[in-house]
Amino acid sequence: MWMSSWTSARQLRAKGIIGMNRRNIHYIGRYNDRRLYPLVDDKLKTKLLAKQYGITTPDLIGTVTTQFSVRHIRQMIDSHQGFVIKPAKGAGGKGILVIERSAQGVYIKPSGAHLELKDVERHVSNILSGLYSLGGSPDVALVETLIRFDERLAAYTYEGVPDIRVIVFRGYPVMAMMRLSTAASDGKANLHQGAVGVGLDIASGTAIRGVQFDRTRHDHPDTGQELASLRIDGWRDLLLLAVGCYEMTGLGYLGVDIALDRDQGPMLLELNARPGLAIQMANGEGLRPRLDLVEREPDNVSSERRVDFAQKHFARRSELAAAQSTGDATGPTDRGRQDARPAAYPGIRR
Ligand SMILES: Nc1ncnc2c1ncn2[C@@H]1O[C@H](COP(=O)(O)OP(=O)(O)O)[C@@H](O)[C@H]1O
Ligand SMILES: [Mg+2]
Repeated sequence: MWMSSWTSARQLRAKGIIGMNRRNIHYIGRYNDRRLYPLVDDKLKTKLLAKQYGITTPDLIGTVTTQFSVRHIRQMIDSHQGFVIKPAKGAGGKGILVIERSAQGVYIKPSGAHLELKDVERHVSNILSGLYSLGGSPDVALVETLIRFDERLAAYTYEGVPDIRVIVFRGYPVMAMMRLSTAASDGKANLHQGAVGVGLDIASGTAIRGVQFDRTRHDHPDTGQELASLRIDGWRDLLLLAVGCYEMTGLGYLGVDIALDRDQGPMLLELNARPGLAIQMANGEGLRPRLDLVEREPDNVSSERRVDFAQKHFARRSELAAAQSTGDATGPTDRGRQDARPAAYPGIRR
């Protein structure tokens, strides 16, 4: 076991796959000033900052900071059909309560489960006591408007808003993937829990490859929707929003999470100063060559130019489309073989 992952480390490097060590030392260590972390480790701070920079995020309905004020939650959510409550310092989807609609004191989750006011209050109280925050330290509960995702994406996801992760290096969008929630992932777009990761072409926003539980996939496991036709409308606007987070935070190596609202377009969900490496699996490509290329670019390039550069240099053909359109002998057989092979690269953690 150890031997095989040891021997493959060299092969991984050859493919340009970066591991935790290189990410931590070369990119996070060099390009992310630790003093800036609080801006992204607290979703409330991120949201307020985004507002200053004209970056769209779900509107803040309110915050709850003390157990005494938990009972004020009712007034806050009263005038909102749908809303989301989350811990300011949460991660990995933990402690996020999504309410899609409510009527007569009943709050309905995307799964259809019903909650009462006292359940919502208990959830807020749990957030405050630190149940979902790192190290169990006390936290703040944030209440924000519900993102209503684009109907055109409905077939690609199961009970949850899909999100798009863009790795932004020195202000350049270097790699992107979409995370589709599945029954296995409990309506959350979290790869550990079984969400499907779909690599997206930086040039066009179309799907190039899909991965679930470290294996390649060509369709959504629950809805059966094939992934080859997945395409994000308004892709360039999404990239511009993502790269604007570089100016907004000053962080050189950043994971930007974006969701698409059907009316308002791309919205910043959250930022991550230590983004995971699984995006390489979803793309079937290592980050290294792209990061090397961007590292040679000068400073002070405008956001439009940075997006132009990325769209020009990081364009990719879809593996999904290739597998579907090749009707000859190599098509289906090749595809079958590919599906049987683990897509995981040892040593990469999400
Ligand atoms: N305002 C919102 N409307 C709808 N769904 C949301 C909203 N905020 C979060 N979610 C869902 O919860 C997931 C995790 O939210 P996020 O803010 O990224 O927290 P975490 O740090 O735990 O990943 C998102 O990918 C999305 O599926
Ligand atoms: Mg997230």
